[in-house]
Amino acid sequence: MATFRILVTPGDGIGPEVMEEALKVLGRVERRFGHEFVYEEETIGGAAIDRYGVALRPETVAKAKASHAVLFGAVGGPKWDDPRAAVRPEDAILGMRKQLGLFANLRPVKIAPEMVGESTLKPEVLEGVDMVVIRELTGGLYFGRPKRRWESAEGRQAVDTLRYSEREVARVCHVAFQLARQRRKKVTSVDKANVLRTGQLWREVATEVGKQYPDVELEHILVDACAMYLVRRPASFDVIVTENMFGDILTDEAAMLAGSMGMMPSASLGRRRKDGTGVGLYEPIHGSAPDIAGQGKANPLAMILSAAMMLRLSLGLEAEARAVEEAVDAVIREGLRTPDIAGPGAKVVDTRTMGSAVAERV
Ligand code: NAD
Ligand code: IPM
Ligand code: MN
Repeated sequence: MATFRILVTPGDGIGPEVMEEALKVLGRVERRFGHEFVYEEETIGGAAIDRYGVALRPETVAKAKASHAVLFGAVGGPKWDDPRAAVRPEDAILGMRKQLGLFANLRPVKIAPEMVGESTLKPEVLEGVDMVVIRELTGGLYFGRPKRRWESAEGRQAVDTLRYSEREVARVCHVAFQLARQRRKKVTSVDKANVLRTGQLWREVATEVGKQYPDVELEHILVDACAMYLVRRPASFDVIVTENMFGDILTDEAAMLAGSMGMMPSASLGRRRKDGTGVGLYEPIHGSAPDIAGQGKANPLAMILSAAMMLRLSLGLEAEARAVEEAVDAVIREGLRTPDIAGPGAKVVDTRTMGSAVAERV
């Protein structure tokens, strides 16, 4: 029997609600496949600010490093939103990413055929959509220094710094090309090379890395045009690779191709071990959704699909990952819908019913 250590950080808002369902599904995987998942739970985000005064404790990071993987819910909420606050719930996710060295964030975008009719986009636009956006996760505007606010003779000022090194760009591009090799062999590198120095560096390095993968087609697109192409010809994309903030914004847009934020899982990866696995962090791309928290309306599928990515990428359990993904496909096919993905006449269920339905089908 294989034993795996998993750090569970539910967070705030709908984070704990969707996490409960992912753990339910993993419980089923344990029983069916004969594994043991040993969980440790840590308070993070706004809940940790209330309890400890910080969003992420060093103890939590240490536990993450000693685990096979981290399952992360979501953090944040109006209670902690004061723009002048010294600590923010979001420090928890940013700190995890940085301190675990998780530089590549994989965000797959797919739409089940049964959900095409319920999308805000036309069915013919959505046909064949199957892409992975790889978002650089530990560099760029989020982490560049200087980063500060100050008062001056001209009033309040603020600065964030967009900085990338050649090494940071190259390593995430390698992840993109390697993934494309297992897929349709096309990489779209997204930048703002017509304006930004970092964009020019990005394009140069992506081109150089691309030369090492002659079997993979490389195209470059400017980020503003990419935002447009994502809703105009989304099926043309295979693997998209882009810098931190562009990736953040483009994937919320891409969530509408998948039908809802509640359908978008993600995996954050750093350096791999020799066997191909590595400590990874798995989280839905959505936030704590304060507007629906506590109402049983949250769609747990993004969290459940993130757990499936964990099984595959950090635990090396491919068949188990597939079993979870197939169970999700089955409940969608059977017409179960949380409110965010419910079209007219749909069978609307709550968070727990959806989670249980997936678990039963594993
Ligand atoms: P959000 O993703 O929380 O919500 C955006 C919209 O999508 C809302 O209408 C919400 O109801 C809906 N939605 C999101 N997830 C859903 C789900 N699983 N099922 C059904 N509907 C869902 O983004 P926001 O409202 O801009 O941010 C709220 C808070 O979350 C902020 O504090 C933000 O900083 C934080 N946030 C955290 C993370 C994270 O922890 N990784 C990610 C994004 C936002
Ligand atoms: C995401 C979120 C985070 C980000 C926030 C909460 C810091 O929006 O994971 O997409 O911007 O990376
Ligand atoms: Mn985001």
